[in-house]
Formats: sequence, C-alpha cells, structure tokens
Amino acid sequence: MDVMKDTSRAPVVALDRVSVRLGERMILENLSFQVYQGEMIPVLGPNGAGKSTLLKLLLGLLKPLSGSVQVLGGAPRLGNRDIGYAPQHRVLETDLALRARDVVGFGLDGHRWGPGWPSRKRRALIDQALHEVDALAFADAPVGHLSGGEQQRLLIAQALLSRPRLLLLDEPFASLDITHEQEMITLIERICRTRKVAVLLVSHDINPLLRVADRVLYIAHGHGAIGTPDEVITSATLSRLYGSPVEVVSALGRLFVVGVDT
Ligand SMILES: Nc1ncnc2c1ncn2[C@@H]1O[C@H](COP(=O)(O)OP(=O)(O)OP(=O)(O)O)[C@@H](O)[C@H]1O
Ligand SMILES: [Mg+2]
Repeated sequence: MDVMKDTSRAPVVALDRVSVRLGERMILENLSFQVYQGEMIPVLGPNGAGKSTLLKLLLGLLKPLSGSVQVLGGAPRLGNRDIGYAPQHRVLETDLALRARDVVGFGLDGHRWGPGWPSRKRRALIDQALHEVDALAFADAPVGHLSGGEQQRLLIAQALLSRPRLLLLDEPFASLDITHEQEMITLIERICRTRKVAVLLVSHDINPLLRVADRVLYIAHGHGAIGTPDEVITSATLSRLYGSPVEVVSALGRLFVVGVDT
C-alpha cells in the first residue's frame, strides 16, 4: 500500500525541517517526514540517535529549536488523549500487590476519572484494553507476580485505553523473548490495522518487524531517512546517514548492518 500517493489525507504526524538541541548538542537537524493514518513505522538508529527525543517532541515534552511539528492537525500538546505512549525502560513503579487491571487503570486516572471513582464504563474500557493485549488471563493477579513481558503488555494496554489515533511505543520488546516478541508484534499490528492507528515503534532490530513495516524511519547523526525497508536499509542510504561506510548484508531473509552500531 503506497499511502504517500494519497495526498487527500492529512498526515497524522508532519515534521518540517525540525532541529532539536539538548544542552550543547544538536540531536536532530532539519528532520522532515510525514506519517499517515494506519501506518506501522519502526523507528531505528543507534543509541543516543534521538529516537526517544523524537517521541518526546511529538508528545509536547520538548520544544524544537526550529522547524514545525504537527501532530493530528495541531501543535503537540501535553495530555493529548489521541496519543498513546509507552515510554522506554519504564518499570512498573507501583505497589506490587496491586492487581494488573488497577495498574492499567492508571492510564485513565487523573484525567476524566479519578481513583476511587469506579464506573461501569471505566471497567469496560480497561477490560477491552486488557483483551487487546491478551492480558485478561492475569488481569486480577498482583503485578508483582507478573513476568517482565507480561508487565510490558500492561504498559501497552495502558497506552491503548483512550483509543488513541497515534501510538508511540519506545522499545516495547526490550524484555521479551523471541516468542513473546512475535506475539507482541502481531497484536500491535492487529491494533494498527483494525483501528487504523498510526504506530511509531522504536526498536534496535528491524528483522522481527520486516513483515509488518509499511515504512521505516532511520535516525543517525542527527539526520533521518524514511521509506520502505528496501529503500532505507541499504549500504548507500545508511553510509550517507552515518557519514561513513556502512555495509548492509541480506541473508536468510534477514538484514544485517555491518560497520556501525545499530
Ligand atoms: N538534557 C539533555 N542535555 C543534553 N543532552 C541530552 C539531554 N537529554 C538527552 N540528551 C542526549 O540526547 C541524545 C539522544 O537521546 P535519546 O534518548 O533520544 O536517544 P535514543 O535514540 O532514544 O537512544 P537509545 O537507543 O539509547 O534509547 C543522547 O545522547 C542523550 O544523552
Ligand atoms: Mg531511547
């Protein structure tokens, strides 16, 4: 599906010549790209490239030095309920005796529903989100009993609660084994396709995502390239981004980037 050619649809995310500086360092320089409804886009690049910074920019947690950022037709703003976000490395900092469903409910509390104000609608939303990440089986278990991968599914359920149109997932597979990683990719793809949610998913490995990626965004040395994996994950494109020779080797249906950290 080539969504780039459908100009009648407004982009969900539009960056135009965006630069971000943190402290003395330029993290992103002149980055321009667009993301459309229902697209699944892995965000790749080495440690420190600015992947998490990019998500924070879209959430309104950071301001660009220059350029324009549009999210769902407006400027980024904090607390936008149309965006679901699962941050990187978040451990469940909570009372480990709390039930899984209560932790997911934190995604609602402090917004329209306060804690201690249970309602049928609130419970239905939480059940729906738990169902979507296949977590109903352990919904009533204390989170302290759950594995890292099960906890990670709860974080995604939390991000889904408000039925967002844009899902920002920062390394959601970090503590998953290969089987659970594949399950998680399948469920994120299902959400993306059935609800037409645009997904930006930060990962260090494109291979498990090759079958689901519409396009990929690769960030390195402040610069970005977006396109199909075939267009972006090539020796020529990555050598240009890194500013040094990079070799992409394809073998056994997998892509290997040689010469730099990814
Ligand atoms: N307040 C700050 N002042 C200066 N530099 C900062 C600040 N905050 C973050 N950085 C730097 O910005 C760079 C980009 O960080 P970011 O977290 O976006 O990287 P990333 O691509 O997500 O990396 P990783 O793969 O390790 O998660 C890092 O080098 C980080 O040290
Ligand atoms: Mg990061």
